[in-house]
Amino acid sequence: MAISQATDQVKYRTAEDYISEKPNVIKVYRELMRNSWLYAYGQRIWIPVTYALGILANITLLLQPFALGQLINHIQYADKVDIVGGAIMWLSLYLVLIGMYWSLNGPARILEGKLAHFTKATFYKDYFMRMVDMPMDWHEKHPTGALLTRLSKGGRAMQSFFEMQSLNISMAMTLIGSTLALAILNPLAGLCVAILIFLMFTVMQFFDRVLMNRIEDADEKDNVFFSRLTDFINNIRTVKSYDLSSFSMRTLTKAQRDIFKVQRPVIKWEELKWFVLSIMLVSTQFIILLIFIMMQLDNDLFLIGSMVMVFLYLAKIDSALISFAQNYRRLMNAHTDLRSATVLYRDLVTLSQKKPKGEEKTLDVDQGALHFQNISFAYNQRQKALDQMELSIPARQKVGIVGVSGSGKTTLLNLLLRFYDPQGGEIFIDRQNITDVSSGSLMQNIAVIPQDISLFDNTLRENIRFGRLNATDAEVEEAGVAAYVDQFVKDLPLGYATPVGPNGQSMSVGQRQRIAIARAILKDAPILVLDEATSALDSESERLVQDALDKIMVDKTVLAIAHRLSTIRHLDRILVFEKGRVVEDGTHEELLRMEGIYHGLWQMQSNGFLPDIPDDEDEELAAEANPNPLEQFGAAPEGSDDDK
Ligand SMILES: Nc1ncnc2c1ncn2[C@@H]1O[C@H](COP(=O)(O)OP(=O)(O)OP(=O)(O)O)[C@@H](O)[C@H]1O
Ligand SMILES: [Mg+2]
Repeated sequence: MAISQATDQVKYRTAEDYISEKPNVIKVYRELMRNSWLYAYGQRIWIPVTYALGILANITLLLQPFALGQLINHIQYADKVDIVGGAIMWLSLYLVLIGMYWSLNGPARILEGKLAHFTKATFYKDYFMRMVDMPMDWHEKHPTGALLTRLSKGGRAMQSFFEMQSLNISMAMTLIGSTLALAILNPLAGLCVAILIFLMFTVMQFFDRVLMNRIEDADEKDNVFFSRLTDFINNIRTVKSYDLSSFSMRTLTKAQRDIFKVQRPVIKWEELKWFVLSIMLVSTQFIILLIFIMMQLDNDLFLIGSMVMVFLYLAKIDSALISFAQNYRRLMNAHTDLRSATVLYRDLVTLSQKKPKGEEKTLDVDQGALHFQNISFAYNQRQKALDQMELSIPARQKVGIVGVSGSGKTTLLNLLLRFYDPQGGEIFIDRQNITDVSSGSLMQNIAVIPQDISLFDNTLRENIRFGRLNATDAEVEEAGVAAYVDQFVKDLPLGYATPVGPNGQSMSVGQRQRIAIARAILKDAPILVLDEATSALDSESERLVQDALDKIMVDKTVLAIAHRLSTIRHLDRILVFEKGRVVEDGTHEELLRMEGIYHGLWQMQSNGFLPDIPDDEDEELAAEANPNPLEQFGAAPEGSDDDK
């Protein structure tokens, strides 16, 4: 993607750089401009065009007091004979200037609005695309609420910076032009205004340096507030069921109070700043008017028009300085907002799992053989979740994985899907290292039914279609039939068009599981990965769905994690995990004969602790493994403890 390449070239600063640095208006402007330029990718030509139109529009605006002043002077002193002709000329010039202003300024504003929207959209797009390429542990460290606030602030900064452009141009030009005009009328007055502008800049800088640090503090506290709020909203069921609403309120109120603590001095400083600025403005105006009146008194000719010109230019300077002071604050806020997002940027560039363009290969799966070579992995410096795991799975083998909770089963799948990268060892699919291939091509070849199923806030049909975006409605429904989704869809008034609600909340867990299975069926990838895929189904549905899964497994390499052994016992091979290692490996019968952990688990389940050995054949096998169930009943928990 061109935009991603372009953004890589920019050196982004870190949070520490930002903290040590004192913001200054030139740097701030430059940084905002640089980012806008970056995200205006493809539309950049319109930036100078907008500026050019804005500058021309403001020249016409600056000439207006001149035309008006000349008109009045003409009326005051022209001969009665040519008064009308001259007046019409000056008046026409005045009207033409107004017309020109609007015909230049209008298009400039429209372009500016478009650019503002465009850069914001590109900004979001770029950040989102980069976030998708981040490993899961990065996402775990950045709660949704905080990410969302940072992103929305960054986008808002891009937009408001562009929307400020015409105001900035107009302010700069008004200040320069009006000062020049006054200097031409009276050099001393021009000098006074120049000194005033310089002093006001210095005062604003002084105040805003103090203010900016506070505003940034408040901004960080604001991010904290929103991440708390999102957390409570995401956990709304727990908040309700454990009656945590008062607790949540207290936490949120405290977070707000923290923001206000930082903001309170900001308000005071802000007031003081405005007081000083307005005193400066008023006294300078007073001096300049005095200069002009004195000058006019010395002359015999008291030119009313020139006086009007002075008034108008002074008024322009006055309003430009006031709006500069206001805009300066907006500019600083935009900068703080942008920082809020760009502090993520170093991560997004350096921790991305995406290889640079050109280095990335496409995974080519012909057989679907998997090889986990000496894999070691720990989450965030915790103890090892996988410990030097060595595992070869030939093409199209169907492997069941069992083991106590926390033994590393899901972790193995997480590494295969590159949600995380192992700290040691490598994973190969058909002899290709998965870190060398694009994540897109990796994911295209693996269909997953995860342990916790996430559905999008969309219809049931679209949620299945996420398995293969170009699938037709008929194909979606076919997958629905295979996964027994249609069994409950037929009872829904809207059928496949039923919205599943945010996070799929309006579906039962078992229904969600069936939707996920349909999604995987539709994807029809050569490698199928199931993590407790049928755990939430009742025995009857489970048996039906299991049949469907067995059918699609036929020509695929399968990794199926299950606690209920009945769902995997018929697979080609079963692995038992313990503390991140494979401790038993063989077919169901072989493992039973080994009389190890698997044997113990099987006994427990056939003894009714997990009442799920459904058919007669299973009962026979169970009996074989456990000749006297009643006798074993008492011993089983002990055995299971050993196993765990
Ligand atoms: N996102 C994570 N961050 C930190 N630690 C994690 C994370 N996910 C899992 N772990 C830890 O890694 C270990 C292995 O977890 P894993 O999810 O692989 O277990 P599992 O065998 O799938 O268990 P279960 O049968 O309960 O699903 C556990 O000790 C767990 O606490
Ligand atoms: Mg798991």
